[in-house]
Amino acid sequence: MASVGDESCQTYSGASERMSEEIMAVSPEDPGENEISRLNFIKVAVGGMCLAYAAAVGYPIYRYLNSPVQREAALSAVKDVTLAGADKLEKGAVLLFKFGPYPSMLIHHKDDSWVAFDAVCTHLGCTVQYHPEQDKIVCACHGGVYDSHTGANVSGPPPKPLTRFQIKVANGAVTVTRA
Ligand code: FES
Repeated sequence: MASVGDESCQTYSGASERMSEEIMAVSPEDPGENEISRLNFIKVAVGGMCLAYAAAVGYPIYRYLNSPVQREAALSAVKDVTLAGADKLEKGAVLLFKFGPYPSMLIHHKDDSWVAFDAVCTHLGCTVQYHPEQDKIVCACHGGVYDSHTGANVSGPPPKPLTRFQIKVANGAVTVTRA
């Protein structure tokens, strides 16, 4: 037969267990759940980084490998482009334009010569940029450098020169023609 003192001990002990169950049920500090959500977060973050990396590396390669035929067809469909008002381009400046669907550039050099190039890098197809302060055409993707007067590949990975267009400056416009 249990004494009064024993019952109160049992009652107290039962209440204590219920309280700790309640605390565990509502506690946001549950180490098991935290571990799972941390793991999920890391999985998602690593997956996202892998996808971004694959896209950054794969897209230029995809464009380069899959576009030569389409590119040639699109380029040959356009014979010339007339850039109205481009004859006013300042010396040392560049004008970006589209030759068909592709980016191209017209440069008016400080010595008053004019050149126009296809602005698609011959390495993996990034768009190149003219840097007037260095008088070079540079591809930011992998550091390719081209001569800004001839389009020749000077350094870095580009395997061949930029395609050069013919130019006619007359009647308030510059006409760029595919050679
Ligand atoms: S795409 Fe690689 S150097 Fe231009």
